[in-house]
Amino acid sequence: MKKRWRTERPPAKPGKATGKPGQDTAKPKRADVRSGAPRQDRTRGGQAKPYPSKGAPAERAQTGRTAIRQTPPADQERRLKTLDRVLSKLGVCSRTESREWIEQGRLEVNGRIVRDPEQWVDMDRDRVALDGKPVRAEQKTYLMLNKPKGYLTSYTDPEGRKTIYDLLKSLDQWVFPVGRLDLDTSGLLLVTNDSEFAEHITSPENHVAKTYLVKSSILLSDEQLRQLRDGIELKDGLTRPAQVRRVRDSEKYTFLEITITEGRNRQVRRMLEALGAVVLKLVRVSIGPLRIGTLQMGQWRPLTPDEVRVLRHAGAKH
Ligand code: URA
Repeated sequence: MKKRWRTERPPAKPGKATGKPGQDTAKPKRADVRSGAPRQDRTRGGQAKPYPSKGAPAERAQTGRTAIRQTPPADQERRLKTLDRVLSKLGVCSRTESREWIEQGRLEVNGRIVRDPEQWVDMDRDRVALDGKPVRAEQKTYLMLNKPKGYLTSYTDPEGRKTIYDLLKSLDQWVFPVGRLDLDTSGLLLVTNDSEFAEHITSPENHVAKTYLVKSSILLSDEQLRQLRDGIELKDGLTRPAQVRRVRDSEKYTFLEITITEGRNRQVRRMLEALGAVVLKLVRVSIGPLRIGTLQMGQWRPLTPDEVRVLRHAGAKH
């Protein structure tokens, strides 16, 4: 029988979780949390249309002669997006897909087909249409998934391994994971089409706490737990102070709970490795105030409006 974490709660009552892995509809669209997140527009080949200052932005940009990248002033930055970002911002599709659609001539701005993904668009004033139909913001979707070990958080895998999209088949919306979990990490993963929400949760600046249960390959001393708490020197710098609690020791292993606020790549695994230990099991149990609770492995459920609201304010500015 598989060992359970001592702190684990009993499984949900039948019918409580709303994930519907059995349903089979179109594959959800590509996940790319970065597509909507950065404030700087990355461009293919580093070139983009200059942003227009006033008037009909999209049309003016089309006539712009210079290809030197400019950044819109702060008051325009919120409204002005390159055409490829407009669709991902609105939650319609990924940026990769929107580039393909633009190149196929499916996008119109103010009644004219635009084939340049770098075209500046004023989201408040320009009329964008896809296949002749006005593009409107998709309803925002917020889910929590209990990711099993052995599932990638990417959309596709050249090696054909399972991804979280195999568990989200019944969704017909473009969604992406909020941050990532390693292939061998299980537990709480947020999934959304709201790039600002994702940015809030993942940005290290916001110090949103993520808590993990860890099984260490060796017994860890109090001094080693103190080192984890104080900060570990990794190749990308000293980790921030963490909260660390010894859950229990078995004969050979230490089980601990660690709360970090950064979310660097493989951070928990690397912190343990720096102490000469290997992480044998890693489970994320909470993000900010949101706990995985009784959601069963491989299942998902929508977040409640209250949970979304609280997560939006999670963390602390430093
Ligand atoms: N830290 C890790 O090492 N891996 C994860 O998946 C999450 C946090």
